[in-house]
Amino acid sequence: MIEMNESDILKDELYTLVRSLKNQIELAWELRHPLSWTTAEGDQKSPFLGMKLASGVHEQDVKESLISSDITGPADNPLETLDDIRRDMEACHRCPLEKTRKNLVFGEGNPHSELVFVGEAPGADEDLQGRPFVGRAGHLLTRIIDAMGLKREDVYICNILKCRPPGNRNPLPEEIEVCEPWLIRQLEAIRPRIICALGTFAAQTLLKKKGIPITVLRGQFHDYHGIKLMPTYHPAYLLRNPGAKRQVWEDVQKIMKVLEAGQ
Ligand code: URA
Repeated sequence: MIEMNESDILKDELYTLVRSLKNQIELAWELRHPLSWTTAEGDQKSPFLGMKLASGVHEQDVKESLISSDITGPADNPLETLDDIRRDMEACHRCPLEKTRKNLVFGEGNPHSELVFVGEAPGADEDLQGRPFVGRAGHLLTRIIDAMGLKREDVYICNILKCRPPGNRNPLPEEIEVCEPWLIRQLEAIRPRIICALGTFAAQTLLKKKGIPITVLRGQFHDYHGIKLMPTYHPAYLLRNPGAKRQVWEDVQKIMKVLEAGQ
């Protein structure tokens, strides 16, 4: 076993702290919920000053939009489209999954949908087709959407990870960490009213509730930066546990009520 002395432990803690702070700043920036000290009086520098954020989108554009918009605000001045984000994502080298995947699974559906479903990661079928939720779990999700009185094309469907983890293993924390900013940009571009998080990984990642089981999180709306977020069981779980379909139906009925009320 490698012995760590006090200074190594301190260095390790400091490194973890800096990494986590850097991540928080990046996420806050991408969510357009900047930490107050990064925007106060407009005289402070963003951590990405001068950096090109996306095709044709520069830090100054982002800063201007920060002043007037919020993730839930009207999409009257969208910074970037899903096509812009996809173009950037095609060139992503943030993790090794790009080497083992066949296709990027960006997401699909109505780019202005009020409802976005977020799953975990592409499986084998999705990897082959480059489309989310097209395997067995996907067919069940399509049936759930139909039962809600909607069509797949009405909603938007994507995942936390955009590339398939080999052998369908669970996403690693470091893969989630580097891939989540893509999802945040997608959500910013779509600006849905409701997010339905499918399964443990999606719910825990979006809500930052690592360790809280889906059984506890599901069934009630949570706040995700002003957007209503409903966690529910993943369709793959339903394939193994059909008895849980009743609870998913209850959860999606709550979503339908909000959609119908237009609130
Ligand atoms: N499971 C997921 O979480 N996402 C998919 O796209 C397919 C299966």
